[in-house]
Amino acid sequence: MASFTSVSSQSLNNASTLSSPFLLSIHIPLNPKIASFSSVSSHFRQLEFPSTKKPSNRSSTCTFRSTPSIKATVSETSSLSSVPPTPAPTQLPLRDIPGDYGFPIVGPIKDRLDYFYDQGRDTFFRSRVQKYKSTVFRANMPPGPFIASNSNVIILLDGKSFPILFDVTKVEKKDLFTGTFMPSTDLTGGYRILSYLDPSEPKHEKLKQLVFFHLRSRSNNVIPEFHSTYTNLFDSLEKELAAKGKVDFGGAHDQTAFNFLAQSLYGTNPKDTKLGSDGPTIITKWVLFQLSPILTLGLPKLLEDPILHTFRLPPSLVKSDYQRLYDFFYESSGFVFEEAQRLGIAKEEACHNILFATCFNTFGGMKIFFPNVLKWIGSAGVKLHTQLAEEIRSVVKSNGGKITMGVTEQMPLMKSVVYESFRIDPPVPLQYAKAKQDLVIENHENTFKVKKGEMLFGFQPFATKDPKIFEKAEEFVGDRFVGEGEKLLKHVLWSNGPETESPSVNNKQCAGKDFVVFISRLFVIEWFLRYDSFKVQVGKLPLGSSITITSLKKATS
Ligand code: HEM
Repeated sequence: MASFTSVSSQSLNNASTLSSPFLLSIHIPLNPKIASFSSVSSHFRQLEFPSTKKPSNRSSTCTFRSTPSIKATVSETSSLSSVPPTPAPTQLPLRDIPGDYGFPIVGPIKDRLDYFYDQGRDTFFRSRVQKYKSTVFRANMPPGPFIASNSNVIILLDGKSFPILFDVTKVEKKDLFTGTFMPSTDLTGGYRILSYLDPSEPKHEKLKQLVFFHLRSRSNNVIPEFHSTYTNLFDSLEKELAAKGKVDFGGAHDQTAFNFLAQSLYGTNPKDTKLGSDGPTIITKWVLFQLSPILTLGLPKLLEDPILHTFRLPPSLVKSDYQRLYDFFYESSGFVFEEAQRLGIAKEEACHNILFATCFNTFGGMKIFFPNVLKWIGSAGVKLHTQLAEEIRSVVKSNGGKITMGVTEQMPLMKSVVYESFRIDPPVPLQYAKAKQDLVIENHENTFKVKKGEMLFGFQPFATKDPKIFEKAEEFVGDRFVGEGEKLLKHVLWSNGPETESPSVNNKQCAGKDFVVFISRLFVIEWFLRYDSFKVQVGKLPLGSSITITSLKKATS
């Protein structure tokens, strides 16, 4: 993938480890009303492929606390280390994993009802931690009967046991992207998509390389397209706010996110095609057909549980919609297909995969994460808003009004705020992996034996709010990752790996990790170039939060 990773000038001298550089910069006058763009070349080498090398012989037995000190920024992460370290066995007492699965069928259904309705997700986990006095225990995860044949999992709820899920030398990640069930491949053109492949499968390497290629080859378009699509969004939000006194962020943002992705990654404006403005609605429906077994829409349990969690929604009901999306991507992706052919991937398989990476992985991630950013920064209040506006504007000004990847690196508070949003509210909260061999895992208090073939499940929001790792773990602390705080970045796990590691063809870390961090930074930068402060009301959605903006204070400096 395009690792949107800027590199230090020192590492530029070791150019043999880097792919060809990309030169990007955009001129943004500080008064956003008169923003204009000119692409100029820069001496700054900004992008790097993640490693496509086989894993180094890096030991997987270094102790939890002895991970080498963090290199401070995204730009300085090691691209060579593709297997994150897992804790070595220590002297902690061995304990049988507490908890049980209940009777067949009955136990999984009871746990499902607890999880969705009778307790709710957080209480489901928290009450069992209290009951078993352990952050590692056995329970069933939804959906269970009759969608998943085996819903028995070992649940990991602390930041110390969780990283075992990333160690692909010890765990397998085949067909478990969505958990104990896999959506029908009828929803993805008959193909098992990259997200469901284990790195041991030959297709995994080729398809991940294709995603890397795609992101890298379009990297020059990211900054300008982001600015233009998000400027349109801000204009329309302001108009509606002025007219109605409040404005919903999510609906308008969905269209913006899709337009941004279509234009930056494919050079196509959806409005000029048969898809028109239907992309976001179709994707939301298609994603619902894949994730319904693990979602609640807030309907009465007697209605919702049989419809969503007991049987699959028939893929045929979304077939024609999916075909429209497919046609859009098929028409726009000639340059990706050329690379696919070189890699030996059939055109159709490539198209279903890049559609999935763009619509499910990226659009889905932005749809959840960008409102979350507003939720957390909004709730932090005016003091943080003022500090962010000052930092962002002064750095942009001192760089002649230009935004480049290098420029974003010079904003420690803005970077920290983005990482803190990922920590406190990881957009993909559930992660699964199956033990490839008998294992010993450990939390802060105990070691536990896991048998080959057992399913491990981690609920990430608990792992990244582990009070034994983070002070004031439940609070949004904007400057948490500034200065010395950067050492904690190894515990930020949203990308299915530590923030200090990089995706590679040998691991299962998110192929879009650096792209996502970069566009999230752009979002905060564009926001605070335009606004001094803002207020939001927050609600809950099946996936993420709903955001109603009630005030936008335009930039005065
Ligand atoms: C906010 C946005 C995103 C979030 C939160 C996110 C999160 C994740 C997570 C948690 C996983 C691992 C899931 C698992 O195996 O348990 C993953 C995998 C993946 N993501 Fe992302 N992602 C985002 C954006 C992207 C983007 C921009 C791309 C590429 C265009 C992408 C492509 C992928 C791919 C291909 C995989 C599978 C990797 C592999 O098989 O090795 N994602 N993502």
